[in-house]
Amino acid sequence: MMLLLLAVAVPACAGCHPAEAKSHASTPMMQALMPARDSSVLRDNPELRTRRGVYEWTLRSSGGDPVYSVSDGKQTVTAKLRWAFGFGVLGQTFVYEKDGALYESTMSYYAATKGLDYTPGHVDRPQRNIEEAAGRLIDPAEVRRCFGCHSTGSAEPVNTGVQCSHCHADTAQHAVSLSKVTKLRQSSSEEISGLCGACHRTWEDIATNGPKDINNVRFQPYRLANSKCYDAEDRRISCTACHEPHTPASHVTAGYDAKCLACHTQGNPAQGNRAQGNVCKVGKRDCVTCHMPKTAIPGIHFGFTDHWIRVVRPGETYPQ
Ligand code: HEC
Ligand code: HEC
Ligand code: HEC
Ligand code: HEC
Ligand code: HEC
Ligand code: HEC
Ligand code: HEC
Repeated sequence: MMLLLLAVAVPACAGCHPAEAKSHASTPMMQALMPARDSSVLRDNPELRTRRGVYEWTLRSSGGDPVYSVSDGKQTVTAKLRWAFGFGVLGQTFVYEKDGALYESTMSYYAATKGLDYTPGHVDRPQRNIEEAAGRLIDPAEVRRCFGCHSTGSAEPVNTGVQCSHCHADTAQHAVSLSKVTKLRQSSSEEISGLCGACHRTWEDIATNGPKDINNVRFQPYRLANSKCYDAEDRRISCTACHEPHTPASHVTAGYDAKCLACHTQGNPAQGNRAQGNVCKVGKRDCVTCHMPKTAIPGIHFGFTDHWIRVVRPGETYPQ
C-alpha cells in the first residue's frame, strides 16, 4: 500500500524534461514490449501463416487479442496472444498464456522477410506433440528477466518499454524534491558500458557465460571492449559517443565518421592521443561500412553491427 502511494506521488519526468521525454517516446527501446493487441506488426499483417513438416502455424488478428494457432491436420491448438516483444526493427516474438503460465511462440515475425520463421533457439527444440510445436514454457524467473529488460517492472508490467528510471536509477526522490542526481554525461566509457550492459550484456557476462561464437555479435559492450579502439576512461568511445540514448539510432553511416575521426587524426602520436597518426589509407568516409560490418546470425534475418571495430580481412574467421 505504501509503495503504491509512493509510486502515484512521483511526478512524471516529462513535465520538467519535455525534450528528453518527447524524443525518448519514439525510440525502439521505449517500445520494446507491448500488449499483442497493440502491435502494429500484427495490425498490418492480419493473417500470417507458415508450414514446417506436419505443422502449420497461423497468427490472426481482427481487433482484440490476436489468436495464435498450430495444426497438424488432425488437431489444432489455439491461444490468445498476450504480449509482443520487440519494436520490430529485427522482428517480434509473441507470448501467450496457457493454464496460468506464459509461453514463447515457436514462430516469430521477421521484418526482413515480412513473414514467420523460427524464434531464436527454437529450431532445434523437440516438437514431439502439438503443444511443443506451439511454444516453449517460460519459467517465472525467466519471465521476470524478459520483462525486466523489455519494460520497467518485472512481473506483468504496466509501464512497457525502457523508461527513464531504468537508466536514471536515482531519480524517484529527485522528481519530488529536485535532489541531485547522477550526471551520466560525466560517466566513463566503462561505466556507460555497464549501464547499457545491464540489458545489452556486459563484457564479463559474455566472457564468463558465452556465447563464444557468431551469436555474440548482438552483445555490443563485449564486442566493443575487445576492439583496439576501446579505452575504459575515454568517453569518445563510449556507447553514448555514438548513440544519443533518448533518440533512435541513426542509420546514416556517414554520420558516424566524425566519431572515428575524433581519435583517428593526422598528427604526432607522442602528443598523448593513442590513435593520432593512425589514419586510413583506404577510405575517407563511411568508416563503419568496412570496419563495423553488418553480420547476420544464422536463422535470424538481421544484419547486426559488429562493434568489434577492426580491419576486416577477406575470408577471416569471426573473432570471438
Ligand atoms: C519538478 C520538476 C522536475 C521533475 C518532476 C524531474 N526533474 Fe529532473 N531536473 C529538474 C531540474 C530543475 C534539474 C536541474 C537541476 C540541476 O542541475 O541540479 C533536473 C536535473 C535532472 C538530471 C541531471 C541534469 C544534468 O544536467 O545533469 C537528470 C538526469 C534528471 N533531472 C532526470 C529526471 C528524471 C528521470 C525524472 C523523472 C523520474 C525527473 N528528472 C523529474 C527538474 C525536474
Ligand atoms: C532496461 C534494458 C536496457 C537498457 C538499460 C539499455 N537498453 Fe538499449 N535496448 C533495450 C531493448 C529491449 C532494445 C530492443 C528495442 C526493440 O524492441 O527494438 C534496445 C535497443 C537499443 C538500440 C537499437 C534501437 C535503436 O534504433 O535505437 C540501441 C542503439 C540501444 N538500445 C542503445 C542503448 C544504449 C546506448 C544504452 C545505455 C545508455 C542502452 N541501450 C541501455 C534494452 C535496454
Ligand atoms: C538481459 C536482457 C534481456 C532479456 C532477459 C531479454 N531480452 Fe530481448 N532484447 C534485449 C536487447 C538489449 C535487445 C536489443 C538488441 C538485440 O536485438 O539483441 C533485445 C531484442 C529482442 C527482440 C528483437 C527486437 C526488435 O525490435 O527487433 C525480441 C523479439 C526479443 N528481444 C524478445 C525477447 C523475449 C521473448 C525475451 C524473454 C523470453 C527476451 N527478449 C529477453 C534484452 C533482453
Ligand atoms: C537507455 C538509458 C536512458 C534512458 C531510458 C533515459 N536516459 Fe536520460 N540519459 C542517459 C544517459 C546515458 C545520459 C547522458 C548522455 C550524454 O552523455 O550525453 C542521459 C542524460 C539525460 C539528461 C541530461 C543530464 C545528463 O546527465 O547529461 C536528462 C535531463 C535526462 N537524461 C532525462 C531523461 C528522461 C526524462 C528520460 C525518460 C523520458 C530519460 N532520460 C531516459 C540515459 C538514459
Ligand atoms: C564508434 C561508434 C559506436 C559506438 C561507440 C557504439 N555503437 Fe552501437 N552502433 C553503431 C553503428 C554505426 C550502428 C548501426 C546503425 C545503423 O546503421 O542502423 C550501431 C547499432 C547499434 C545497435 C542496433 C543493433 C545493431 O546491431 O545494428 C545497438 C543495440 C547498439 N548499437 C548498441 C550499442 C551499445 C550498447 C554500445 C556501447 C557498448 C554501442 N552501441 C557503441 C556505432 C557505435
Ligand atoms: C577513443 C578513440 C578512438 C575512437 C573513437 C576510434 N578509435 Fe579506432 N583505434 C583507436 C586506437 C587507440 C587504436 C589502436 C592504435 C594502435 O594500436 O596503433 C585504434 C585502432 C583502430 C583500427 C586498427 C585495428 C586493428 O585491428 O588493427 C581501426 C581499423 C580503427 N581503429 C578504426 C576505427 C573506426 C572505423 C572508428 C569509428 C567507428 C574508430 N576506430 C574509433 C582509437 C579510437
Ligand atoms: C572501403 C573500406 C574502408 C573504408 C570506407 C575505410 N577503411 Fe579504414 N581500412 C580499410 C582497410 C582494408 C584497411 C587495412 C589497410 C592495410 O592494412 O593495408 C584499413 C585500415 C584502417 C586503419 C588502420 C591503419 C593502420 O595503419 O594501422 C584505421 C585506423 C582505419 N582504417 C580507420 C578508418 C576510418 C577512421 C575511416 C573513415 C574515415 C575508414 N577507415 C574508412 C578499409 C576501409
